[in-house]
Amino acid sequence: MKAKEKILVIGSSGQIGGELVEGLRTIYGQESVIASDIKDLDNDALITAAPYETLNVLDKNRIFEIVQKYEITQIYLLAALLSATAEKNPMFAWDLNMNGLFNVLDLAKEGHIKKVYWPSSIAVFGPTTPRVNTPQYTIMEPNTVYGISKQTGERWCEYYFNKYNVDVRSLRYPGLIGYKSAPGGGTTDYAVHIYHEAIKHQQYECFLSENTSLPMMYMPDAIKATIDLMHAEAEKVKIRSAYNLSGMSFSPKEIALEICTHFPTFKISYNPDSRQQIADSWPQSIDDSAAQNDWGWKAQYDLKKMSNDMFKHLIK
Ligand code: SER
Repeated sequence: MKAKEKILVIGSSGQIGGELVEGLRTIYGQESVIASDIKDLDNDALITAAPYETLNVLDKNRIFEIVQKYEITQIYLLAALLSATAEKNPMFAWDLNMNGLFNVLDLAKEGHIKKVYWPSSIAVFGPTTPRVNTPQYTIMEPNTVYGISKQTGERWCEYYFNKYNVDVRSLRYPGLIGYKSAPGGGTTDYAVHIYHEAIKHQQYECFLSENTSLPMMYMPDAIKATIDLMHAEAEKVKIRSAYNLSGMSFSPKEIALEICTHFPTFKISYNPDSRQQIADSWPQSIDDSAAQNDWGWKAQYDLKKMSNDMFKHLIK
């Protein structure tokens, strides 16, 4: 059954996209997973990315053209502006994050594709949300453009499921950390940069304060959660807005201490900027028992295990 699926990943050059394409291709085969991004790739990159299409998610006709060309059955929509970048260009972030989603949801509503994956985020929560072990259902008053777009997106996903029977699935990703691709424009990006700087310079200036604890997840866990959710039987996916998802939680001080076990001379300093305010409005830890109960989710990486793996690969 799986062999017949043809998958389009929109935003394949982003932090999650590259790894997700890789993960999906090991399951479905190279030719069945079409990578796409707004970026034109040079010839070398094209060879590894192929099949690849240049695509602006705001161009619905172009998405439709690709869907028809490859007989696409599923879309993973990853193109979005993240929290810090969105604050610099609120209206464009709103346009991209919302209309990109509508373009894809409408293709499913019109019956052209069967399944949609769209990522939500811990940014759907806000300063009035309980911050420790944040429940699935709780107060949600996001105060960033990114968070507002993700929360609104969740409402529309649930609406399309209820009204039009669109099989759309979503996860509220925590901050994602991986060694294969750089993050771009998020508040949790420090937790990736810190590893690179530890190797290169044995020091790092952090843009968040030392005790700012945030929910985080290692990329292999995030990819596994995404594919597990998409493979779950439809009846098991009881939440059609987005599932809470938890990996680990740590502060800059705690990750610095862990890094010191690899690089004893590593030094961290703190110079919080505007991203501090965003981080302060987000949860410290997440209760993901709904994901555990509904489709058997369990994270495999904690801070120590992730750090060992990050350094193993980055030092190479
Ligand atoms: N990592 C994202 C960000 O910081 C959260 O979804 O914007």
